[in-house]
Amino acid sequence: MTAPPVIAIDGPAASGKGTVAQGVAAALRLHYLDSGSLYRLVALKASREGVAANDEARLAALAKSLEIAFDKRRIRLQGLDVTEELRGEPVSAAASRIAVLPSVRSALLSRQRSFRRPPGLVADGRDMGTVVFPDAVLKIYVTASAEVRAERRYKQLIEKGNSVTLEGLLLDIRERDARDSARAAAPLKAAADALILDTTDMTIDQSIAFVLERAKAVLKSIRA
Ligand code: DC
Repeated sequence: MTAPPVIAIDGPAASGKGTVAQGVAAALRLHYLDSGSLYRLVALKASREGVAANDEARLAALAKSLEIAFDKRRIRLQGLDVTEELRGEPVSAAASRIAVLPSVRSALLSRQRSFRRPPGLVADGRDMGTVVFPDAVLKIYVTASAEVRAERRYKQLIEKGNSVTLEGLLLDIRERDARDSARAAAPLKAAADALILDTTDMTIDQSIAFVLERAKAVLKSIRA
């Protein structure tokens, strides 16, 4: 029996990959994995339990034992809804730091792969096409200029009533890009066989349409 097909959508912070991946999963009625939320959950649990961001063995154990539930758009950690807290800047920064640790990454591998169920999966992250699902039927690398990504994040956070500055966010994004790209374990990079989608001058709908068109063609050919 062949494994359910995976569409891998990778890219840097605030590139729009999450929105694109969710839109594609909904349109095609496929399962959806937001792999970044797993790193965020490990970071949140570690901070709650006072585990240091460089204590690799304890962080890996914590990653293995995470008790989580994804329920539509809400995410629960040990029964409590942590959806908003997960998106905040402290958790974002901590997640990027613990994501450099190879034992944490391997502790999350089988959990990520368990999302692959019929009729198929759209997975979003940094290493979906390179490490977690190298046999994905379609790999898209979503990117946009750091300035445009900072502006998008700025609008989202301001709408939610956060007080942030555009300059601060741009710095955060550049730092996070550097850390995600420079790490030895599964660095952020486009898979050799990925299509590059630069959304700098594109709307969300245009970006989703770009991926949908290719996804439909690939799924049709493997189901034929
Ligand atoms: O996609 P995100 O912003 O929610 O990801 C949070 C952090 O987790 C990000 O800094 C990098 C890391 N991450 C990763 O290393 N590998 C993934 N597949 C997803 C996220």
